[in-house]
Amino acid sequence: MPRPKAFVTRVIPEAGIERLAGVFDVDVNRDDRQLGAAEIAQRAQGCQALVTLLTDRVDGNLLDLCPDVRIVANVAVGYDNVDVAAATARGVWIANTPGVLTETTADLAWALLMATARRLGEAERCVRAGKYHGWGILMLLGGDVHGKTLGLAGFGRIGQAVAKRARGFEMRVLYTDQQRAPEALERETNATFVDKATLLAESDFLSLHVPLLPQTRHWLGESELRAMKPTAYVINTSRGPVIDEAALAAALRSGWIAGAGLDVFEREPEVQPELLACENAVLLPHIGSASIETRDRMATIAADNCIAFVRGERPPTAVNEPVRARA
Ligand code: GLV
Repeated sequence: MPRPKAFVTRVIPEAGIERLAGVFDVDVNRDDRQLGAAEIAQRAQGCQALVTLLTDRVDGNLLDLCPDVRIVANVAVGYDNVDVAAATARGVWIANTPGVLTETTADLAWALLMATARRLGEAERCVRAGKYHGWGILMLLGGDVHGKTLGLAGFGRIGQAVAKRARGFEMRVLYTDQQRAPEALERETNATFVDKATLLAESDFLSLHVPLLPQTRHWLGESELRAMKPTAYVINTSRGPVIDEAALAAALRSGWIAGAGLDVFEREPEVQPELLACENAVLLPHIGSASIETRDRMATIAADNCIAFVRGERPPTAVNEPVRARA
């Protein structure tokens, strides 16, 4: 039996490539350059498995160009870059990497929250620019974190992990989601379910943890930002388009809110010049899950999904049920 083939669209941690290579003949785009659909299709000819990153657009067109691909393992928990319906209709499995990045992303959300409240970006820029000429009592004053109200939009795995970390800061935790969480989980996380209007009005820190879906696009826009406290901060480690960035830039400029910490942007890797000009924004290049251990685990899970597929098993973290096997 010839070995099955896999194409990995960009460099991923070796742990994942080694795992894949135990079963597949693996080709990796070692350039780590984002490929277009035609280039992916060319390299993926004869491949049953495609390992993609969140920078790849996986749609019906790409899948039609790759007729042998039967599983796409996206090395990310979010899969808004994938047209799942198109894959399902074509009999292609889609898998993501849930669970393993929860704690790492929650850590980053907190790092960003603290950096934003205490103006760490500005403070660091001041030192590096040689502008620290002596301690001043009014220098770089930020907002307190402890004892404040943390609002979570989205109360899935990452939202819950962010809530748990708020205990040490003796914060009040509010959340909103499509559904209220079970009481035991609310007790464990010390979180109270509220509607969106209450969340916006009462949060001192609003942290976004919703997936990007048609109904969450621009979840935070001008009217929402205007409904927040002028002393409040917005933290986004989910997906950029959940925030209307033009409205956010206006809010930061006009003082509708005090600051924002963003790990994600509407049109990555583009960052709006208006945001770059806002000193009260801390801007990161989408590093939520970027720890060595977590990225290894993500790559390994992607490989495990591909391997399960060739063994005739259900990929363990599949997000769809293909309607028929691909012919
Ligand atoms: C990162 O953004 C992910 O979805 O894993």
